[in-house]
Amino acid sequence: MTRPVPRITVIGTGYLGATHAICMAVLGFDVLGVDVDREKVDRLNSGEVPFFEPGLPELLTKALESGRLRFTTSFAEAGAFGDVHFICVGTPQMKDSHAADLTYVDRAVGDLAQHLHRRALVVGKSTVPVGTAARLTELVRRIAPAGEEVELAWNPEFLREGYAVDDTLRPDRLVFGTDSAWAEEQLRTVFASVIAQGSPVVVTDMTTAELVKVAANSFLATKISYINAMAEICEATGADVTGLAEALGYDDRIGGRFLKPGLGFGGGCLPKDIRAFAHRAEELGVGQAVAFLREVDGINKRRRARTVDLVRELAGGELAGARVTALGAAFKPDSDDIRDAPALDVARTLHEAGADVTVVDPVATGNARRAYPELAYSTDAIAAAAGADVVVLLTEWSQFREIDPEAMGAVVAGRRIVDGRHALDPAQWRAAGWEYRAL
Ligand code: UGA
Repeated sequence: MTRPVPRITVIGTGYLGATHAICMAVLGFDVLGVDVDREKVDRLNSGEVPFFEPGLPELLTKALESGRLRFTTSFAEAGAFGDVHFICVGTPQMKDSHAADLTYVDRAVGDLAQHLHRRALVVGKSTVPVGTAARLTELVRRIAPAGEEVELAWNPEFLREGYAVDDTLRPDRLVFGTDSAWAEEQLRTVFASVIAQGSPVVVTDMTTAELVKVAANSFLATKISYINAMAEICEATGADVTGLAEALGYDDRIGGRFLKPGLGFGGGCLPKDIRAFAHRAEELGVGQAVAFLREVDGINKRRRARTVDLVRELAGGELAGARVTALGAAFKPDSDDIRDAPALDVARTLHEAGADVTVVDPVATGNARRAYPELAYSTDAIAAAAGADVVVLLTEWSQFREIDPEAMGAVVAGRRIVDGRHALDPAQWRAAGWEYRAL
């Protein structure tokens, strides 16, 4: 007997939700994406991915053509359609504290639950403070007309921007947080082909599943800040942090990934997740256990300040009136996401100190201009560098790595560059007469 194929809804069509919905349709499921944002829904239905993600537009076209995917704003439709409902809405940082704002999660689950008239599984994917799933279980059972027939499970998501499709279809691991055999079976059915291609599955309780996500992001953030702390030591001693990182990384137990010294981490996940985790731990009375995350955050913020200092040094000690070309706006390459982008933070600080800043980015200038209209923007690094006193590399786009130091040197006012990401070859730039400084 073949197992019935569950129909899937994905609530929240931001980065995570849109990718998940599209990939599930590509895997052969009938999928309904749900979002309160009518414009986003219309764009997705017409085949347009509202953000930059390599490979995703092609898959959206394919999924829409197959007839297995569409998007709606109606929770009633979602309740009637789906057997398995993934909650993929955002949990941003609160405006007035480090806590995670759960408004969107609570609203999505509440709005969906009132339309659940038959047996269904609600699966949380959003990054939430530990303990949220237990609270949502109560909420769902209270609100859903089908009551106890509706179950909740937790399935944290580990996708990275820029690799979202691959991370969804070929994740390093799947985590299923549930103590229900039926829920586990539903999840195994939904992820059957992902499991078949080799991703290991960890089945655990919901609380652990919630915790895995924040623990993983905290570890990654800590690793980055660790090497950046070593960079501070290197700077004080004259040691070379790139050589240090390489030598550390060859140790399998340490590993070279996320051990790249530079301007540090940003984005919509790592910074807010470590803060929310520290905040939640304090609420639970175990704040001391992760007090080091405050230090991780502090080291990371110091990187931005240090980059500004280096530009000031190269500008002759004074930023007012200096012409600076800032290479990068996105929080990392292959993304147009500017949430908590270290690059834009540095560019803005330089501008506030009186520098005349032009920001260059291949895809993120639209988002950056909307957020910071006071800065000048360009997509052409050489054109933007005309007359510059200092060039500073802030996001390591491959386009920037390939810049010819001679070509750029021909247009600048002074050959001075700060490499905020250890992305350039110092020997090559120095040979072309540049004063090269790295973090
Ligand atoms: C991160 C995690 O890597 C994902 O596993 C997780 O699913 C996601 O957050 C999330 O919570 O949704 P993402 O924010 O897309 O993914 O970006 P990363 O590739 O992790 O990079 C984060 C930041 O760290 C970037 O600003 C990057 O430039 C910086 N970074 C990364 C470094 O400064 N040094 C490194 O060695 C590596």
